[in-house]
Amino acid sequence: MYHSKIAGIGFYVPENVVTNHDLTKLMDTSDEWIQERSGIKERIFEKKGVDTPTTMGGKASKIACERAGISPEEIDFIIFATLSPDYYFPGCGVLLQRELGITNKEAGALDIRNQCSGFIYALSVGDQFIKTGMYKNVLVVGSEMRWMGLDFTTRCRNVAVLFGDGAGAVVLQATSEENKGILTTHLHSDGTHAEELALISPGSHGGYHLGAEQFGFPDTEFGEFFVYENLLENKTYYPNMNGQLDFKTAVTKFPEVILEALKKANLTVEQIDMLIPHQANLRIAQFVQKTLKLSDEKVYNNIMKYGNTTAASIPIALCEAWEAGKIKEGDLVCLAAFGSGFTWGSALIRW
Ligand code: ACO
Repeated sequence: MYHSKIAGIGFYVPENVVTNHDLTKLMDTSDEWIQERSGIKERIFEKKGVDTPTTMGGKASKIACERAGISPEEIDFIIFATLSPDYYFPGCGVLLQRELGITNKEAGALDIRNQCSGFIYALSVGDQFIKTGMYKNVLVVGSEMRWMGLDFTTRCRNVAVLFGDGAGAVVLQATSEENKGILTTHLHSDGTHAEELALISPGSHGGYHLGAEQFGFPDTEFGEFFVYENLLENKTYYPNMNGQLDFKTAVTKFPEVILEALKKANLTVEQIDMLIPHQANLRIAQFVQKTLKLSDEKVYNNIMKYGNTTAASIPIALCEAWEAGKIKEGDLVCLAAFGSGFTWGSALIRW
């Protein structure tokens, strides 16, 4: 029986650093407020028109393939997690296949739309394909270009200051080695608060389920009218976020899903060598660390320099921690994420 190991890992971030001070020129905010509430000092915005989520994902994937000792042509399946795809359709998976020059028509590609927990969902899906014996090499990518979809005015300052661009990728490979690779993954969702952290337009909702009157528009025979009005007047093409609800829910779901994974694997918190929490807010990560009583060396955070790179945050942090020698052969690595949906999940990996 096969299971999956991470055979190669890579990440890529563009060069254009944007500091908190830079943002104060666009909106009413301050370096002090952003750092105190989120831990973020700077983030990277692509902004040069050179990269897209697909090309960034491609750069990270090439490094991951090289480190796995395989050519992209050997990839059986691509799973691409992003909330900021190049196109509305087709998805980034097929664009990445083309970007990597994979001409193997046997390969399949899938896009995952689970925002901040997208990478863990993608990892879990890849792991299932490997466990069933369907594929040997699965490329799992998280890549985001967030700056294009954010409102950099005071109106949306609570959202705009949090995010950044970047990409990370891993090659999941079938192995029969004992006690190595992905030990368990756990995925959850609750759609009750779907609109509390959402980008509503463009979408095919027609606005009706949101209640036209709620926005002060008369109900009409034609959905397009409402969509158009809703889009322009309410700027529903920018994300909205109920930060406090997200925060409160995240700090309970993170420890819950980590403990669930440990229980399933018959392991304890003390046995974790490295926790890589999704980088949504340093305060959330610190809260989780405190709840689980983990020492500073056992938690890796890099939100200070990248902001929240959504589906890319975990593979970027995982790769950085590994490159810095903070993750070694045999270590127990725990990944955990929470985000829009709400969706959340965890993965335990024996490195
Ligand atoms: N600069 C200055 N002031 C600001 C800013 C800003 N950038 N943003 C908001 N404020 C103001 C508000 O207007 C408010 O002012 P008021 O008291 O005069 O009304 C005040 O600061 C406090 O605002 P809150 O929203 O209550 O601030 P909070 O302490 O909750 O921090 C934050 C906001 C950082 C967004 C926090 O709630 C958070 O990180 N939440 C979690 C986000 C998250 O995890 N999302 C999930 C992942 S994202 C995804 O899945 C796509």
